[in-house]
Amino acid sequence: MSKFKRTLITTALPYANGPIHIGHLAGVYVPADIYARYLRLKNEDVIMIGGSDEHGVPITLKAKNEGVTPQDIVDRYHGIIKDSFEKFGISFDVYSRTSAPIHHETASEFFKKLYDEGKFIEQTSEQYFDEENKQFLADRYIIGTCPKCGFEKAYGDQCESCGTSLSPTELINPTSTISGNQPVLKETKHWYLPLDQYEPWLREWILEGHQEWKPNVYGQVKSWIDGGLQPRAVTRDLDWGVPVPVEGTDGKVLYVWFDAPIGYISATKELTEDWETYWKDPETRMLHFIGKDNIVFHCIIFPSMLKAEGTFNLPENVPANEFLNLESDKISTSRNWAVWLHEYLEEFPGKEDVLKYVLTANAPETKDNDFTWKDFQARNNNELVAILGNFVNRALVLTNKYYDGAVPALGELSDYDKEALAEIGKIKAEVEKSIDNFRIRESLKNAMDLARLGNKYLADEEPWKVVKTDPERVNTIMNICLQITANLTICLEPFLPFSMDKLRGFLNLGKMDWEHFGSTELLPVGHQVNKPELLFEKIEDATIDAQIQKLLDTKKANDAANAVAKPAKENCSFDDFMKMDIRTGTILEAELVPKTKKLLKLKIDTGIDQRTVVSGIAEYYQPENIIGKQVSILVNLEPRKIRGIESQGMILMAEDADGSLKFVSPVDKVKNGSEVR
Ligand code: MF3
Ligand code: ZN
Repeated sequence: MSKFKRTLITTALPYANGPIHIGHLAGVYVPADIYARYLRLKNEDVIMIGGSDEHGVPITLKAKNEGVTPQDIVDRYHGIIKDSFEKFGISFDVYSRTSAPIHHETASEFFKKLYDEGKFIEQTSEQYFDEENKQFLADRYIIGTCPKCGFEKAYGDQCESCGTSLSPTELINPTSTISGNQPVLKETKHWYLPLDQYEPWLREWILEGHQEWKPNVYGQVKSWIDGGLQPRAVTRDLDWGVPVPVEGTDGKVLYVWFDAPIGYISATKELTEDWETYWKDPETRMLHFIGKDNIVFHCIIFPSMLKAEGTFNLPENVPANEFLNLESDKISTSRNWAVWLHEYLEEFPGKEDVLKYVLTANAPETKDNDFTWKDFQARNNNELVAILGNFVNRALVLTNKYYDGAVPALGELSDYDKEALAEIGKIKAEVEKSIDNFRIRESLKNAMDLARLGNKYLADEEPWKVVKTDPERVNTIMNICLQITANLTICLEPFLPFSMDKLRGFLNLGKMDWEHFGSTELLPVGHQVNKPELLFEKIEDATIDAQIQKLLDTKKANDAANAVAKPAKENCSFDDFMKMDIRTGTILEAELVPKTKKLLKLKIDTGIDQRTVVSGIAEYYQPENIIGKQVSILVNLEPRKIRGIESQGMILMAEDADGSLKFVSPVDKVKNGSEVR
């Protein structure tokens, strides 16, 4: 590990205002976990830090909407998120939270030090203030008309209709979302980190000194710096967050993006008294695992904060990932377009490794990528089951069958045997090379090559045939297969920890360090293996179809929620309206009109008479389910022949946004024949 003695891995702190989904896992936590597990297997000194980001305006908005406190919100989601991480085996050494006292203390001290040393600029500006509630309004609390496109519900920081970034003073007719009143401009004082002053240093440190960073990261940093850096406010007028530790600043807190990365430090303090070694010793290597939307904060702002403070290390690398899409659409919490981890855990019990495998095999490392359920199924069935699972299963089943589970001795090696054994070491080197360079997706492919090797060796050697002609030879074949299997438990441990645990159980083998990977004597002759169970099981079409249907339903619900009602028709006179004779009636009989899919023939008790009506509702209602239902019927519509049946009137239906039809029925039962007006 060259000049470093230990590694500090940080993982972006997820906002505790919703559960987490596959995008979070794929972008940050799975690659970080694989990397941390790999280093631990190599017996390196490594800690992996995580926690919930519990401040910021969206959390206060959500609390307000639900009529609860921000603390209630973050308690709820911190719990859900932490639980999902645990169940997926994301191996944090500590998972903390930014509402914890230790964090408030740490962030507060950090700010105070920079403040005392004059590292901030103090500036007064005019900001919108809600006079009724006596508070300054965060950009998101102000809505108004977009000056660009005229959309009437644009936010103070952005118009969601045309996408323009705005500042609240650009809005036409600004309104406070808290009181509904027009806010007034009022002076307020804030502190700014003068990023412009750090520009020459950032150029030197990153653009010259870290050209090895991933191109997507380096490129984004370069374009920020080239675009010119501006002073950034590090305080806000808000009542949720870390209070500004300066006298006379009531109602002001640290900006969430100032305090959150300090959360990495607080969490390390929570983990160990020796936290300063991990943060300040130059022999510690710090790595930030994040998604691409966090690059500017981890490569420019947080490093500038650390630089200003002066005693902390800077990140050695920031292996940020791009985004994962879901079935070709951007993952979105508000549109519920996501695979939620807590739901997956319920719907696919025991398949945590499968999801992690698919997300790694398809990781958005260099470009945005797509998660599809079909791909999930294919990778499970064709790779985990057909290659890895199949190989280890056959190796163990045959060992039990031929040798009662005792590892046979190697005989004389053929050239092909030697090649196969030599291949193990080569695969190890490949895995290391890619993982050391944060090409995690490639490293998984390299690691699976070991299973491919085993599968191919077994298929080529065909011990089930050889056993009839040369049983001696089978000893060698099976020994080699078992050594490959034992090597798999090390090689795939960072990627598939639950499954490798299982596999070690089948092999009756303890956990081994990375340095043993490559040995062809992991299992001594005579070692007793167990009877195996299936390592992975096939996922059927029906399971996948159900998931796809779930997404289609989400789409439908979203479309319906977004649909705008048609504008009203031209006015009609009261007399026009009164010409229509609408009554309540009860459905007495219902049957499908023969040779049609959409038409039902109904017999209705209208109070006046019993009559037949043909209605195009068969796609929405089953005949047997609507007998006895009370509905509204236009009784003086001229009779019409439909499919040879005379229809005497029309049932009133409401057409939903998705085009489906619903009866318009009285909420409480009324006498049949009651007039509807
Ligand atoms: N909560 C932020 C997000 O989800 C990430 C914060 S990372 C930290 O985008 F560095 F601030 F902790
Ligand atoms: Zn707009």
